[in-house]
Amino acid sequence: MIKITPDVDLQPLHTLGLNARAQALAWLDDRTQLPALLRTAAEYEQVHVLAGGSNIVFHPHVDGLVVAIRTRGIQLVKEDAQAHYVEVEAGECWHDFVQHCLQQGWYGLENLALIPGTVGAAPMQNIGAYGVEVERFVVWVETLDWQTGEIVRLPKAKCAFAYRDSIFKQKRGRWLILKVRFAFPKRWQAVLDYPDLQQAPELGAEITPAAIFQAVCRIRQEKLPDPALLPNAGSFFKNPIVSAQQAAQIRAQWPELRAFPHGPDTLKLAAGWLLDQAGWKGRCVGPVGMHKNQALVLVNHQKGQAAKVDVDRLVTQIQTDMQALFGLQLEQEPVVI
Ligand code: EPU
Repeated sequence: MIKITPDVDLQPLHTLGLNARAQALAWLDDRTQLPALLRTAAEYEQVHVLAGGSNIVFHPHVDGLVVAIRTRGIQLVKEDAQAHYVEVEAGECWHDFVQHCLQQGWYGLENLALIPGTVGAAPMQNIGAYGVEVERFVVWVETLDWQTGEIVRLPKAKCAFAYRDSIFKQKRGRWLILKVRFAFPKRWQAVLDYPDLQQAPELGAEITPAAIFQAVCRIRQEKLPDPALLPNAGSFFKNPIVSAQQAAQIRAQWPELRAFPHGPDTLKLAAGWLLDQAGWKGRCVGPVGMHKNQALVLVNHQKGQAAKVDVDRLVTQIQTDMQALFGLQLEQEPVVI
């Protein structure tokens, strides 16, 4: 059985806190509900999946059925000389899972501490921070294929992982992510590429996963607003990836440009730095604005009142500005439902 609630307020169900309502909402608590969910979903023209709601911009009226995922369970399914293999239900809270891994001695996720959202949402946008992306540990992603009603496991090679991207984001609406299998190599290697992390006082003479976890938590808490206190959806734009030639052109005018190696002959530019230079740090347009400590984070100062139209107005102004100043097209990161 699955309960359907009509006309649901979405404001408390997403971290940006916009004014929005859904035609109908269903909570998926466990797998036994999948047949009922499939039957119900067929009655709606559109079905949308909602996880932690930390990377979403809602339209004021969301037509169709919103399926909110809160399935739970973390299981060590295998251990060999190389790795620990762990399967996790989609509804588990990401940060709690990272902490649990640390306690169990399954290392690797410490750089991804305090990322809001759920385990099922992690592969969707290939969450990443401080030099690590989740794809590094994914073995497969188990999904419900909405078209066929079948449960399908996509091995990592089929997930099309890239910077803040995956097959699940590209073909949104095709699958519902149910479970993820991770492999955590036993030969742990610290990832300390990130300057903020290299200088962290938490890292003593002996670098441990716990010390990295502590450092990442502190750095994030210093820079990034807590959505419970100031609604936001994390980084609002992707860091633009440009050719070495284009980066050189921008650097000719902006010698301090923050750019990081990305692929062969491409660089990733720090959009936060660019926005900061352009004067967007702390600047508002109506009820929304860019955060005072991190110009890449769009914040909502009027929870439950600001709406998508306010976000769009700010985004358009920023994109126009960035095009004029740097010749760059900033791409929005959160998905729109
Ligand atoms: N910077 C400024 N001013 C600002 C913001 C940033 O000068 O207002 C500079 C920083 O000093 C730094 C550089 O720009 O030299 C990069 O900034 P930061 O270290 O804060 O990282 P980011 O590139 O802005 C990305 C991710 C974050 C992730 C951090 C840490 C994207 C879109 N964002 O931000 O992810 O936590 O790196 O790895 O890739 C998210 O996706 O929601 C998110 C928060």
